[in-house]
Amino acid sequence: MRIYREKDYDAMSRRAASIIAAQILSKPDCVLGLATGSSPVGAYRQLIQWHKQGDLSFAGVRSVNLDEYYGLAPDHDQSYRYFMQHNLFDHVDIKPENTNVPDGLAADPAEECLRYEKKAAELGPADLQLLGLGRNGHIGFNEPCDHFPRITHLVDLTESTIEANARFFASAGDVPRQALTMGIGTIMRARKILVVASGADKAGAVYSAFTGPITPEVPASILQLHPDVILVGDESALSRLAAPGA
Ligand code: F6R
Repeated sequence: MRIYREKDYDAMSRRAASIIAAQILSKPDCVLGLATGSSPVGAYRQLIQWHKQGDLSFAGVRSVNLDEYYGLAPDHDQSYRYFMQHNLFDHVDIKPENTNVPDGLAADPAEECLRYEKKAAELGPADLQLLGLGRNGHIGFNEPCDHFPRITHLVDLTESTIEANARFFASAGDVPRQALTMGIGTIMRARKILVVASGADKAGAVYSAFTGPITPEVPASILQLHPDVILVGDESALSRLAAPGA
């Protein structure tokens, strides 16, 4: 695993954006696994800037997002489809038909999970999978539990996640209770995984995920088994990892 320890959120975002841009430049028709949340927003902003300067094109890129709240329409301002449109897709030249986010309004969630898993399989392994880390160690919406879910599935969100995400909603009561998420198996198929983590409230998750036992109680701990993981974090998120050479 490679670790980049950056001084703050902006530096973390620039580093993460450079890694994503390098992926796109070296393989313009790559498959990018994308994440929502606060952690990748700065990286997306930087990618948009490079695109606007004429340095980066998404014309051949195919993307597949990790997850979506179940019950939210694509145009709901807290849906992950809406997030992706506003924070990246609407500002770059990615083809709309090449973007994939689970359908939060699917009448039959089990069927939607199968469709999405099939779509991910058709696209092939993500060349680069971007991940944020939940404070409880979740990746995608794979919450701590007694096993590692393999494929895309419907999940009940934990209280910790509902509380963490309540900041985006009028109240915790408005946070959807369920989500559709890629499974751990789907995520682990990626050729390369880029984890971004910022802030002191991620220090515990970073520490347990990368130095603790591999357990579904800390879903991100499975990343220790992946052959190509890059962790980009700011000082606060990485504060409990030993400094290089220590
Ligand atoms: C988002 C996702 C989640 C977030 C995680 C961290 O698509 O799958 O796992 O990456 O909850 O969220 P932030 O970055 O908001 O702290």
